[in-house]
Amino acid sequence: MAVAPHKVLLLDLASNINRVPSNYIRPISDRPNLDKVDSIDASIPLIDLHDVTGSNDVVQQIGRACKDYGFFQVKNHGIPDEVINNMMQVSREFFSMPQSERLKSYSDDPSKTTRLSTSFNVKTEKVSNWRDFLRLHCYPLEDYLHEWPSSPTSFREDVAEYSRRIRKVALRLLEAISESLGLERDYIDRALGKHGQHMALNYYPPCPQPELTYGLPGHADPNVITILLQDDVPGLQVLNNGKWLAVNPIPHTFIINIGDQIQVLSNDRYKSVLHRAVVNSYKERISIPTFYCPSPEAIIAPAPKLIDEEHPCQYKSFTYTEYYQKFWNRGLAKETCLDLFRATPYI
Ligand code: OGA
Ligand code: NI
Repeated sequence: MAVAPHKVLLLDLASNINRVPSNYIRPISDRPNLDKVDSIDASIPLIDLHDVTGSNDVVQQIGRACKDYGFFQVKNHGIPDEVINNMMQVSREFFSMPQSERLKSYSDDPSKTTRLSTSFNVKTEKVSNWRDFLRLHCYPLEDYLHEWPSSPTSFREDVAEYSRRIRKVALRLLEAISESLGLERDYIDRALGKHGQHMALNYYPPCPQPELTYGLPGHADPNVITILLQDDVPGLQVLNNGKWLAVNPIPHTFIINIGDQIQVLSNDRYKSVLHRAVVNSYKERISIPTFYCPSPEAIIAPAPKLIDEEHPCQYKSFTYTEYYQKFWNRGLAKETCLDLFRATPYI
């Protein structure tokens, strides 16, 4: 009798089980409590970007959202529907390829610049997450394009076009965020050195017992900003005033969140907020975050202009590499990684 192949990807395991395997089950104290989640529409601000370069009002709205929520959604961002639809479609096609084809991209080494994996960090974590993901570095494109999957046939073209367009949105947002902090428009851009851009194609299969596990447990993003595209299936939740809010999908919008590096640069004026992805029993969900990052050697510290007697310096300076390694090695613990880089308290 042939031995069944070892199933490293969740998608292939999930398709024929009706209970969650024990390594995915969270302790009772750490479950999603889905009936306690607020699910009102427009739970986070929706900002119209069409006049982001010319309008003080948009900059103010962005600043307020960064302070009060750490999250906002944007419309009129300038990315054509076709580019978004192609990105989503090719992601769906990627995850519907046979296992043997998908496994060509598999690796459990977080330092690889292109890799398909499952959960979060299978080498270090104790409880698994209900997710498979394809992670890609995408800037500068020519350095990475040849590593990307070559099937589906339009994969490289569709994803490259999407990542070029999303980079422009990221740069405009960073300018607006700098300005909203009272810094020069290019302050954050310069502080980041030679930027990096990564993306993840997250695939959350339907889950027979969604109340026992997470797609991704509560975490803050370690990078500068994240721009998330999600399909029409809800799952993202954001912590606000101690309560989880569901962020229901609005077609053709992106969800933006402040990452840990902006919290540091802003000397805690803006917060990198905990968020999580929950799963459901009826439909798979795809989400596509783009993570905008500092260069690995960039030295990150609070902007001097934002340090004064009332706002003492909250962080030691560090390189992004130091930060990023800590993030991946410690797993997605609830406490943010930022606390490991706090300045020693005043005496
Ligand atoms: C992430 C993330 C949320 C989602 O990948 O960092 O927060 O809705 N994803 O998939
Ligand atoms: Ni995240």
